Amino acid sequence: MGGEFLLGIETSCDETSAAVVGRGGEIGALIISSQAGLHSKYGGVVPEVAGRAHLEALLPAVREALSQAGVGYRDLRGVAVTRGPGLIGSLLVGLTAAKAVCFALDLPLLAVNHLEAHIYANFLHFPDLEPPLLAFVVSGGHTLLVHMPAHRRYRVLGETLDDAAGEAYDKVARFLGLGYPGGPVIDRLAREGDPQAIPFPRALMRDGTYNFSLSGLKTAVINYVKRTRAEGVEARVEDVAASFQAAVVEVQVYKIVRAVEETGVRRVVLAGGVAANSYLRARLGEALEEKGARLFYPPLSLCLDNAAMVAYLGWRMLEEGDVAPLDVDAVATLPLPG
Ligand code: KG4
Ligand code: ZN
Repeated sequence: MGGEFLLGIETSCDETSAAVVGRGGEIGALIISSQAGLHSKYGGVVPEVAGRAHLEALLPAVREALSQAGVGYRDLRGVAVTRGPGLIGSLLVGLTAAKAVCFALDLPLLAVNHLEAHIYANFLHFPDLEPPLLAFVVSGGHTLLVHMPAHRRYRVLGETLDDAAGEAYDKVARFLGLGYPGGPVIDRLAREGDPQAIPFPRALMRDGTYNFSLSGLKTAVINYVKRTRAEGVEARVEDVAASFQAAVVEVQVYKIVRAVEETGVRRVVLAGGVAANSYLRARLGEALEEKGARLFYPPLSLCLDNAAMVAYLGWRMLEEGDVAPLDVDAVATLPLPG
């Protein structure tokens, strides 16, 4: 493959990913090696296990990405890597590898914010998409509603006060014995269930802010299932999943629509693993259409953690001269840039 390429590396959580991306966003190769199977029996990601698994999987993933793209180390224009937020031991594996490549080949290092990269997965997939827009960042660790007036400019309108959306899906799934990650399983089961079967609480729905709270809902689901079990009537798991998901999504849709009305911004993008949720996509899409606004979300492979979005944002950072020194640190908590 000819042209100019960045190597992208992503190891912030439980996906080891490497990608080769051209200057215009052409994905030469994208390798994603998921550790979900390793963490499944624990019902969540075990940080120590994740760090070790990244160490084993990263170099083979990088080699495979370069080989699939037909690109050698010498064809690279730089290396983009997730710096944070994420699990520190996992981030360090990717960041250290990226620094080594940059040091050895005298290449620029692009130290990428994981949340910003999730937002940029939308620009990668929709080349004509431009700000201003609203971004709803929903992942295992975050729930943020963000106004993005221009490229790389962010104003956080609201966020979760307790559990992140993905975390709530994962915890409810763990309680129901459905394994990890919980989001995809609940999404699937919910399609066979009645979203109105159980009236779970819609926290902070009309509080006038753009904040979210999910820990009370999670407790309500657990209490409901325990109570029905004690009464000897096992609730249908499909109905529990559908009713829980409806409670999560209804508040999200309500607040996003309000943000569209208040800001006058007519484009909304979904970002992060929970952007894969089919009920959120469908309900939000309908609600936005009614307001004359449009919803964008990346295809599944670019919704979940992946190095293509990291490399794509890396290109923009390189063009802006936003290059990191080789002693840049990994950081577990990192806000979006200003
Ligand atoms: O962005 P991501 O891959 O990793 C983080 O940066 O956290 O998001 C992972 C989260 C998990 O909590 C997973 O349960 C959730 O995304 N998720 C979903 C779906 N697919 C993945 N949640 C709801 N519905 C889905 N279809
Ligand atoms: Zn993520």
